[in-house]
Amino acid sequence: MNIAVFASGNGSNYEAIAKAINARKIKANLAVLICDKPEAYVIERAKKYNTPTHIIKLKDFNNKEEYEKKIVEILKPLNIDLICLAGYMKICDKTLLEAYPNKIINIHPALLPAFKGAHAIADAYNYGVKVFGVTIHYVSPEIDGGKIISQGVIDYKETDNIEQVEEKIHALEHILYVDTINKLIGGNK
Ligand code: GRF
Repeated sequence: MNIAVFASGNGSNYEAIAKAINARKIKANLAVLICDKPEAYVIERAKKYNTPTHIIKLKDFNNKEEYEKKIVEILKPLNIDLICLAGYMKICDKTLLEAYPNKIINIHPALLPAFKGAHAIADAYNYGVKVFGVTIHYVSPEIDGGKIISQGVIDYKETDNIEQVEEKIHALEHILYVDTINKLIGGNK
C-alpha cells in the first residue's frame, strides 16, 4: 500500500501519519508528500522522516489543470493507493479526482456537514456549539461535501477557551486519521 500526503502548512497531521507508518502502526509506505507552499513547516517535518517531497506551486503553471496534471504525473509511477489531504489548502479539481476516484480523503476539524470551510473551529466556537469534533471524508467536487468515513468528538468542557478546544481537536485528529487510514487499507501491506 502506498500513501501520498498533500499538505500546505504546519503538518501535524502529516507527522502523525509518518510517525504511525514508522512505528508500523500503519502498514503502508509513505511514498510522497506533495506541498504547494515552499515556506510550509511540513517540509521540515518531512525531512525528519525522509519522506520524498515535491513542492509544486500553482503559480508555476498556466492553470490549475496543468498544475494537477503535474501532480498526477508524479503520483502515477508511485502506484498510490490512497491520498490523504492534511491541511492541503487547495480544492481538488477534475484532473485529480478522476485520476484517483474514491482514493482521496480529507480531514476536517468539525462535525460535517456543519461548519464547512477554512475556519471551522472558530466558526463552531463562536456559534456556541457544545459538541465539537473531527470528520474524515472522501473528497468530492463539493468542498467538504464528500461521503463521511469517520467522525469523533472531543471531551469539551464549558470552561474551555478556543485554544483549548483547538488543542483537543488537533489531538483527536491525529488519532482519528491513523485509525481511519488503517480501516481503509485493511490488512494490506
Ligand atoms: C487540520 O485542522 C485539518 O483538520 C485541517 O487543516 C488543519 C491542518 O493542520 N484540514 P496540520 O497542518 O496537519 O497541523
